[in-house]
Amino acid sequence: MSYPVLELKSLIKSFPQRELLRGVDFALEAGGSYVLTGDNGCGKTTLLRIVAGLEAADGGMLRFKGAAIDLGHYPEALRRELVYVHQQPYLFNTGIAHNIAYGLKMRGVPKRRRELLVEEAIAWAGVGHLGSVLPHKLSGGEKQRVALARAKVLNPGLLLLDEPTANLDNDARRQTLALIEALRHEDVTVMIASHDREIIAMPHVERLHLEAGRVRAL
Ligand SMILES: Nc1ncnc2c1ncn2[C@@H]1O[C@H](COP(=O)(O)OP(=O)(O)O)[C@@H](O)[C@H]1O
Ligand SMILES: [Mg+2]
Repeated sequence: MSYPVLELKSLIKSFPQRELLRGVDFALEAGGSYVLTGDNGCGKTTLLRIVAGLEAADGGMLRFKGAAIDLGHYPEALRRELVYVHQQPYLFNTGIAHNIAYGLKMRGVPKRRRELLVEEAIAWAGVGHLGSVLPHKLSGGEKQRVALARAKVLNPGLLLLDEPTANLDNDARRQTLALIEALRHEDVTVMIASHDREIIAMPHVERLHLEAGRVRAL
């Protein structure tokens, strides 16, 4: 039985010059994969950031695993469940394992368990060969894969990926697409803002389209 992990109702967000989100409603089923499409500047990043608790909404309701959340008072605990991966991920200037372990450490996961999870995540993302290479020496694609591993290892209730294949060369894009495809076999709900035709065309991915401040299923 699937159930909605996240429901958004009447989400609104304005900037001084612009009413960006004008009543966004949608529900995401647990374990589902969703792609959020829409023209540049229509508000995809803003929407993902609001859902992740990184930006305030002006109004609306969010329900996470059935519990109602007032978007005006975003609980800290929810921020840990909803993990946002930036289009150009920022990594700490230390080795890959340390980057991937950081969030687990912050969540109080014991060292041994942490090491095991980090090892699994490194293997999953295929970044083991990069060892202790520092982030400034990594390519955009390698950074993106480390960022995906770092997010996935937290086992989030909802994983939010912002244009994960934009700004990547073809090989790096292929590798990132393969990881996105592999997420289908994981017990994770994922929402991806993207224009990438291959992501949109993935058979298990449902499409949500943001236009004129509202979201509709396509
Ligand atoms: N902090 C901000 N202050 C004012 N306007 C903003 C701010 N953030 C975003 N916007 C406006 O929201 C629009 C949509 O941004 P964004 O969510 O990044 O869209 P998308 O990700 O779909 O390209 C921007 O073009 C800009 O006009
Ligand atoms: Mg964006």
